[in-house]
Amino acid sequence: MEIGSIGIVGAGQMGNGIAHVCALAGYDVVLTDVSEDALAAALNLVTKNLDRQVSREKIDAAERDAALARIRTTPTLIDCAKCDLIIEAATERETVKQAIFEDLVPHLAPQTILTSNTSSISITRLGSRTDRPQKFMGFHFMNPVPVMQLVELIRGIATDQETFDACKSVVDRLGKQAATAEDFPAFIVNRILMPMINEAVYVLYEGVGTIKSIDTSMRLGANHPMGPLALADFIGLDTCLAIMNVLHDGLADTKYRPCPLLVKYVEAGWLGRKTQRGFYDYRGDGDPVPTR
Ligand code: CAA
Repeated sequence: MEIGSIGIVGAGQMGNGIAHVCALAGYDVVLTDVSEDALAAALNLVTKNLDRQVSREKIDAAERDAALARIRTTPTLIDCAKCDLIIEAATERETVKQAIFEDLVPHLAPQTILTSNTSSISITRLGSRTDRPQKFMGFHFMNPVPVMQLVELIRGIATDQETFDACKSVVDRLGKQAATAEDFPAFIVNRILMPMINEAVYVLYEGVGTIKSIDTSMRLGANHPMGPLALADFIGLDTCLAIMNVLHDGLADTKYRPCPLLVKYVEAGWLGRKTQRGFYDYRGDGDPVPTR
């Protein structure tokens, strides 16, 4: 099946990046979100990131303009229903995702492929509640989407080969690398990454190291581009906690218990960069300041 148009549900951190790379690869994009403000902010950010690519001579001005012209934004969810492929990138809450699929399904053509950018929720379960589990799968981008090379492709138990092949061809056209993961909690990247981040929070909680020493250790001692606590802030502490809970509940192993200090930061509303405060405080003009 040939994909020409892509509907993206959710204009947040992931949705705007997905719109960016899809439009740049030549797909017609319909980006939808309940919030008009979020749509305007997403379009601004896509423009800024495309401009940056022009200034670094990764793309030229004509490619930027063509990409922007391919993105249509709309607050009406069903405006994206006519697209060949839909990538849901809404809040990481199962009830929210389920409600989106319920609203969309009656308006879809029979051949439309439905996917979710979920980082941890069961693809089989999400797909089973639609009218097309065979045309449903996981399409998981990494943040920041324009920079990260990987897309995890996750087949639900019912996903058919044609659907998988169509999604794989989209990943190829985006110029990214696909890795196939089976549908078990948090798939591959987050199954490995989140326990590492959670362990870094335990190291802080137990007083083994400070925020600065933990991040410096992993940056310079393991060559990670960001320390685990800076990365947690970048991903969002609420997302990190939600994924740890999915691992803990889904695999029923105490090794996945979320660190109480991570829970406390989330309870405080200190969710990382998006709220200007997490393990670091981003409110000043200078470098972020560790909060402990
Ligand atoms: N959007 C678009 N482009 C961006 C960007 C963004 N948000 N942030 C950085 N870039 C681009 C820059 O323009 C720059 O491009 P050039 O190479 O053309 O110059 C390049 O990325 C490098 O950026 P910087 O020089 O500003 O900064 P850096 O070298 O420190 O890199 C980083 C920034 C790419 C974010 C790097 O720190 C990194 O790789 N961090 C780890 C990111 C990571 O692990 N992501 C996965 C998170 S897990 C996930 O996403 C799964 C999940 O479900 C939670």
